[in-house]
Amino acid sequence: MTTRDLDSSTVKSAYARWAPIYDAGCGPVMVKGRRAAASAARAVGGRILEVGVGTGLSFDDYDASTEITGIDLSAPMLAKAREKMASGRYPHVRDVQLMDAHSMTFASAAFDCVVAQFVITLVADPERVLSECHRVVKPGGRIILVNHLYSEVGLAAAVERWAAQRTRSLGLRPEFPFARLQAWAHANKDAILIERRKVAPFGIYTLVCFERSRQARAA
Ligand SMILES: C[S@@+](CC[C@H](N)C(=O)[O-])C[C@H]1O[C@@H](n2cnc3c(N)ncnc32)[C@H](O)[C@@H]1O
Repeated sequence: MTTRDLDSSTVKSAYARWAPIYDAGCGPVMVKGRRAAASAARAVGGRILEVGVGTGLSFDDYDASTEITGIDLSAPMLAKAREKMASGRYPHVRDVQLMDAHSMTFASAAFDCVVAQFVITLVADPERVLSECHRVVKPGGRIILVNHLYSEVGLAAAVERWAAQRTRSLGLRPEFPFARLQAWAHANKDAILIERRKVAPFGIYTLVCFERSRQARAA
């Protein structure tokens, strides 16, 4: 039994509070997961959309061969990302926009790759966000997610269930099951689960990759 999905107003108020301390507090802890996702995205290359770009901690993980667009629901988090862009160190980052991942304003098939690092478990409707990511990625393109996912069994699962209610107001969700991501792919024609692997540190994060099929499958 897992908790209900977070709502957008909880997420907005949580990340308004996180913004001033996010880089110091969450930068080092999540760096390996973030890098693994960015590395998988670099292998696809081209136009990359980062959903829930936050303060732009991933900007260092891409290079001039890619073109990054970021979106986020939180204006204070995006303000930090814009400060990084203003440094001039990230010419590959073309734009960051205040936008809700549930209803993106981008044209369909606008990106080669969509990346969401530590985001999909927090959104109000994860399946809808996945479908939006699928819509804006080109056929043959990829959706790359990295997150802590629910451990399902044992002590870790018990701790995650215990922590779930207590961390909601912080905009955290420790008990989101992989099965939901898998079920979304099964229910969506043209979405293929191509990778699921643990990443450092200690395998606490999971990288999940979907490909949008080049050939539309029959419904
Ligand atoms: C844990 S932070 C991760 C930030 C960044 N990806 C990183 O790895 O540091 C989650 C981010 O997702 C954003 N977010 C949550 N729900 C969103 C939504 N519906 N649309 C866009 N961004 C959202 C939050 O505002 C926050 O900046």
